[in-house]
Amino acid sequence: MNLRLPLSHDYVESSTSFRLPQQAIAVSNAVQMWFSEAYINGLEIPDFLVLNTLKPLLSLVYQYFSTLLIMDDWVIQESDDLAEDSRHLMRLQYNLPTELFRLMLGESYQIYPKYSVGLWEKEATTLEEAQKTMLDDLIEKAGITDGDEILDIGCGWGSASNYILSKFPNVRITAINLSQTQCAYMRQKMQEPDSYLSSHRFTLIEEDFNTVYLANQFDRIITIGFFEHVGNLTKSFAKMANFLKKDGQVFLHIISFQLPHNGMAPFIDKYIFPRMRVWHYDAVPAHEQHFKVIDRWFLDGYNYAQTLRCWLKNFDAHQEELKNLDYGIEYQKFRRMWRLYLLWCIAYFEACKGKVLGNAQYLMKVV
Ligand SMILES: C[S@@+](CC[C@H](N)C(=O)[O-])C[C@H]1O[C@@H](n2cnc3c(N)ncnc32)[C@H](O)[C@@H]1O
Repeated sequence: MNLRLPLSHDYVESSTSFRLPQQAIAVSNAVQMWFSEAYINGLEIPDFLVLNTLKPLLSLVYQYFSTLLIMDDWVIQESDDLAEDSRHLMRLQYNLPTELFRLMLGESYQIYPKYSVGLWEKEATTLEEAQKTMLDDLIEKAGITDGDEILDIGCGWGSASNYILSKFPNVRITAINLSQTQCAYMRQKMQEPDSYLSSHRFTLIEEDFNTVYLANQFDRIITIGFFEHVGNLTKSFAKMANFLKKDGQVFLHIISFQLPHNGMAPFIDKYIFPRMRVWHYDAVPAHEQHFKVIDRWFLDGYNYAQTLRCWLKNFDAHQEELKNLDYGIEYQKFRRMWRLYLLWCIAYFEACKGKVLGNAQYLMKVV
């Protein structure tokens, strides 16, 4: 066992533990929105200047004013729904054209578009290698073995499912996703003989996690990059506990802060991922009513920053194909908004040398 519980937020020893006055947070939110909207509307700033301004500012925020990241009360309160504002989230983000994600995230026979961090620490040199390394790492940490019945919650375009099915001839996977466009992509793959999704060992459920009902139980639940959209860990864990066999385990992977509290940013909330929140590293183990954390890991923010840099490069390299897709807004505006999203995220992950914002992974068993 490799339990590293005391690690949490020890990097930011001097982080403010009290909440800054509401007025300070309102001013910080307004400044971020002013800058972001000016950029979207045409303010010309080179990328290096954006990054070299945001990174030191965010490092200061992480170390001394971290409660500015509590941009609104809902960021630290449990929501009524399990996953938050899901329909709006689908419209704004996950139902954007498949082609955008195919070109930006990359696609290969083994690695379908994967909208989560790659693992660069083990000498990967390309995005595809980093994503494979991450999935191999997941298989090992989650203890997946041949013959397992697996549930993949928030499965994206089926990247983890397809990869795991390719490695284990007797694994069966059920995958849940609310996005129509992502499900359409997987349904297409389920018709293609060279896709592992067509092996009849893959079941797709197009539904909202809030309302989904499952009659059968699983050996493993994996969920990668979905719990950022969950606002109520208590209710969500209660629901997931019913999906597991008695000795089953959950492998939960999320973006996470080594801070004493959750955080979010107003630009990302308004334009990119409505009601997303970044859970602090201790939040999951603090909800032990239904699951006990038996192991956990924190992956340095440089992994995500490097992944985002590849996505930005891909996005820039495919302008010709991307400019003709339907984003619901004029392309030049979308392009600037999307590039700023990627730049903000690179800065968030690289601030404080990647030690504060990174990815958390938890292996949990039913209590
Ligand atoms: C950041 S993506 C990660 C996708 C995938 N796990 C991966 O690593 O590529 C989050 C996924 O959660 C799905 N999702 C978000 N809210 C959902 C909900 N309420 N019910 C089901 N799926 C949801 C999205 O459609 C998307 O596929």
